[in-house]
Amino acid sequence: MIQVLLLIYLIRILICFTFNSPLLAPLGGGSFKIMKNTRLLLSVLIFTLIINVFAQSNGTKITLMSLRCEMMNNPQGIGVQHPRLSWVVLSSLRGVEQTAYRILVASTAQQLAANTGDLWDSGKVPSGKSQLIAYDGKLLRSHQTYYWKVKSYTNHGESEWSAPATFLTGLLSTAEWKGKWIGLDKSFAWDSANVKMSRLSARYFRKEFQLNNKVTKATVSIIGLGLYELYINGQRIGTQVLAPVPTNYSEGVKYNTFDVTAQLKKGANAIGAILGNGRFFTMRQNYKTYKIRNWGMPRMLLQLDVEYANGRKQSIVTDNTWKVTSDGPIRTNNEYDGEEYDATKEMPGWSTTGFNDRAWQPVEMVKAPDGKPEPQMTPNMQVMQTIKPLAILKSSSGKYILDMGQNMAGWLRIRVKGNAGDQVTLRFAETLDDKGEIYVANFRDARSTDIYTLKGGTQEMWEPRFTYHGFRYVEITGWPGVPTVNDFDGRLVYDEMASTGTFISSDKTLNQIHQNAWWGIASNYKGMPVDCPQRNERQPWLGDRAIGSYGESFLFANQSVYAKWLDDIQQSQTKEGAIPDVAPAYWNYYSDNMTWPATYLLIADMLYRQFGDVQPIAKHYDSMKSWMDYMCKKYMTDFILIKDKYGDWCVPPESPEMIHSKDPLRQTDGQLISTAYYFQLSKLMEKFAILLDKKEDAGYFNGLADNVKTAFNKKFYDVGKGYYGNNSVSSNLFPLYFGMIPEENKAKVLDNMVKKITIENNSHISTGLVGGQWLMRGLTENGRADIALNIATNRDYPSWGYMIEKGATTIWELWNGNTADPAMNSRNHVMLLGDLMIWYYENLAGIKAAEPGFSIIVMNPALPEGLDSVNASYESVYGKIVSDWKKSATDFSWNITIPANTKAIVYIPTTNADQVMESGKPANASESVKLLRMENGKAVFEVSSGEYHFISK
Ligand code: BGC
Repeated sequence: MIQVLLLIYLIRILICFTFNSPLLAPLGGGSFKIMKNTRLLLSVLIFTLIINVFAQSNGTKITLMSLRCEMMNNPQGIGVQHPRLSWVVLSSLRGVEQTAYRILVASTAQQLAANTGDLWDSGKVPSGKSQLIAYDGKLLRSHQTYYWKVKSYTNHGESEWSAPATFLTGLLSTAEWKGKWIGLDKSFAWDSANVKMSRLSARYFRKEFQLNNKVTKATVSIIGLGLYELYINGQRIGTQVLAPVPTNYSEGVKYNTFDVTAQLKKGANAIGAILGNGRFFTMRQNYKTYKIRNWGMPRMLLQLDVEYANGRKQSIVTDNTWKVTSDGPIRTNNEYDGEEYDATKEMPGWSTTGFNDRAWQPVEMVKAPDGKPEPQMTPNMQVMQTIKPLAILKSSSGKYILDMGQNMAGWLRIRVKGNAGDQVTLRFAETLDDKGEIYVANFRDARSTDIYTLKGGTQEMWEPRFTYHGFRYVEITGWPGVPTVNDFDGRLVYDEMASTGTFISSDKTLNQIHQNAWWGIASNYKGMPVDCPQRNERQPWLGDRAIGSYGESFLFANQSVYAKWLDDIQQSQTKEGAIPDVAPAYWNYYSDNMTWPATYLLIADMLYRQFGDVQPIAKHYDSMKSWMDYMCKKYMTDFILIKDKYGDWCVPPESPEMIHSKDPLRQTDGQLISTAYYFQLSKLMEKFAILLDKKEDAGYFNGLADNVKTAFNKKFYDVGKGYYGNNSVSSNLFPLYFGMIPEENKAKVLDNMVKKITIENNSHISTGLVGGQWLMRGLTENGRADIALNIATNRDYPSWGYMIEKGATTIWELWNGNTADPAMNSRNHVMLLGDLMIWYYENLAGIKAAEPGFSIIVMNPALPEGLDSVNASYESVYGKIVSDWKKSATDFSWNITIPANTKAIVYIPTTNADQVMESGKPANASESVKLLRMENGKAVFEVSSGEYHFISK
């Protein structure tokens, strides 16, 4: 109301000034005698004011953005009845809190535009929640698009309705699938089906059909195994690559859903699909069959549901009317060895009507996989970046070597002109040898080679479909003429997700490590997290991501891929409760240990902590508990967990070519590790049980943890020497970080750990994958951020900086990756990051979730000596959090941004809270800043949402 009055008043002044009118003079009717120029200037000023007031009164001060359904933007293929909706409240005002919301879900865009939620009108719900609100309207139907929007009510007024968002449902019950599985259960002369390096040509499927009326809605769901590409009337459907995401096909197979209304027409239509091997027809067969899982020849199930204007419906499904050929241009493909494409075998128009398919054969009706169809509730992979190469080098043998300037995972797109039959061979590698030739010994037997045969004539452009490579360098042979960098694009491929973190500090090494980490993490998302993208492995090893996943979540919005991975892990659990080290268990490793399967619990916790999603904990609780029970029953003696497998995997070894150290002093006792982990995970189970209101379980795990702790101290603590086990850093770090040490012993243990690092290891890393998951936080939270900083900024062996000194653009598998045996020496493994990325964001930038999903943030940067500034941001589910600090000998200045509908507890170094200034005024004087207390030389304030500029002396 005040705004409206102000608006009228300002308009009156404006008219008055502009026309020099006495009539409308706002102040009692007298006329203004002002110079013409001044009048004009004043008019402009007042006009700007009006615009501002108008903008504010119009509600633009609160905007709703980033509408998500099940954590995805406008997802297609939602397969649940109560999808959860989220949004971001945006405002430049301070102290904005949502007090209520209203959600509308409509069956048509028109109804939504008319503010009618014919399916669900939540009404005005008094609530601060803006994340993961479950749809609670009418029953959802299969293959329908739903339109939704939301309005927030806040303590600063209400927002406009958000822009509309949509979600499209998949087939909500298995019974609705009407089609049959089709394929070809045989191989051809040009296939290598029954050999170790097994590859097949791609299978091309097609079908023509009539639609008798105008189509108002068409939705297709497809399960193409191992991998598919789908076409309708010659148009490719979607931009996904290497789809669907891989699963254990005996337990579940993912289907993708698309709205294809625009691709269909009345009359004759055609549908086509190409199938690649993926993990269904595995890359290595007839070899280590006890270990490698195989499901058979590619196959698919498809259902296209069409709705006509007259209300009638029609379905086109896979059945015996489809035709297939294996004699197309993709001559062979698999994930390890690459793809070979012969453009002279192209079949123009094969997925359009009227194509002559007489040479094609009828499909076979094949067995359905044991796994039931499941909606894929995680985005597929995409080409996420297209990168120009750095240079073309010449090796000493005269070969052209393309240098991407960056180790990455994906493939090359080529533009080439030549004669029919010319053959270009691309061999991928991560590094070069001394002679400048590609070095592929560390790929083991993965051939990682693409071959393109030209059809000749004009320029041809090609990229593979059913393979990917981990590479920085590509050897090019057979190129017609001389290749130039402009003939190639690097295609970076990973699961579609936003990058959420930025980090720049005054330390160049820290910055470069962050960048290398980003590339490493991106490279290793492949519908599941894999260990590496290049050698004949590429397996979803659990241990590699135990805590890494949490660090990664600051750089990538990785919640969907990890939620899906928890399902993979659950599906791979045995009836007895065992969880494998690789899941899906493409490789059979049920070795029963604590540290690799621990990832199952740790990631459920991460999803809750970072994204505020409790569902994974609820969904997996019983399985997690059954695994804990299984390990306890089978391997616990007197509260000591006696089974371990990997130790502190990959500690820096004693000599440069070694993979695993043999020096007992460098290793940590396996039982110490597994017992400490059992304790830590029991505490986590207790937390989960409390969250789910399972009081009895909470009590049980609490008691168990206590007993394990007592036994652990008894067995591993050396009272005389004041350390655990053999005094390796990890031996002391686990009990220290997990809170297992009686108070009176803590200082001694910390002191021993510090001495071990600073004196014996000259402030260098000496932990492996397991210890590294707690090290940086362990030091920092015990007051030794200075040591953590030294470890992180070293440039000599062993360190992340050493990798950079040796030319790394990603993170290596081994600390000595430049010299170690190639048998296990990937240059793109993320496990050695440990908790480094968490430390960057939580401890250096000081951006940490105090409440799940960052609804309350704690901002407490560690400020170690030697680091002068950090400018970091993190795109949380509530919006962007910024921490940008600088310190000098006298001043500390800090710009922070707290998203609307959240608040933060901020810690500012000072000896006197009264001297902390905020935007030029004493911080205490600000309405949105409240001093809570002084704590260890820091003033602790509660700060509501908005942007702040603090300065302290
Ligand atoms: C993988 C690792 C994995 C390990 C466990 C290696 O070959 O690359 O990342 O965790 O095996 O055995």
